[in-house]
Amino acid sequence: MTMTVAMVMLCTMMVHANVKPQKDFNPQKFAGKWYRVGLAYDSPSFVPYRSQIKASVGIVTPLPNGNVNLTMWEATPFGCQSQKYQYERTSVPGQFTYFSTRHNMVKDITVVETNYTDYAVVLKHKVFNREYTQVALYGRALSVRPEVIQKFKAFALSRGLPRESNSYACCCPYSR
Ligand SMILES: *[C@@H]1O[C@H](CO)[C@@H](O)[C@H](O)[C@H]1NC(C)=O
Ligand SMILES: *[C@@H]1O[C@H](CO)[C@@H](O)[C@H](O)[C@H]1NC(C)=O
Repeated sequence: MTMTVAMVMLCTMMVHANVKPQKDFNPQKFAGKWYRVGLAYDSPSFVPYRSQIKASVGIVTPLPNGNVNLTMWEATPFGCQSQKYQYERTSVPGQFTYFSTRHNMVKDITVVETNYTDYAVVLKHKVFNREYTQVALYGRALSVRPEVIQKFKAFALSRGLPRESNSYACCCPYSR
């Protein structure tokens, strides 16, 4: 199965004022399996690898203390690899921090909008010399409705990420 996703990038600095998380964010309802079906990214170094990006699948596990565990599987040139992340709650529901071992820095993650049953738009960012930004679209299924993709693209554009689309192949460990 293939799908259309948006993946965009930009090498300028960005401002992240006033990004509010999903109102009344509910981690319990957010639990379970999500496919990452779209990605908007600002890192110039990301460009050469763009065509290798595959759809990822993740399992979200809310913990009793309000933190969230995430296990992500990603197809890489070396095969399907799983990664575990621990997101720590902040005082704002829907906003988390985590330590990225890949980039060796603490990042913020905000669940900008979700309706739990279909889609989630998630923003990752970090101010560190330059702004580092990623907007991801997650779906409960491999395809999401066109309105949801429009919503995602509009949000990415509002963050200063230009439009570009790409197709991902699905999706280890659920390969076609
Ligand atoms: C969450 O992740 C941490 C670190 O990987 C692990 O020790 C813990 O058992 C996990 N908790 C659950 C409920 O999966
Ligand atoms: C979530 O969004 C989808 C697609 O827009 C819609 O069909 C569905 O009814 C929504 N679910 C809830 C609980 O609002």
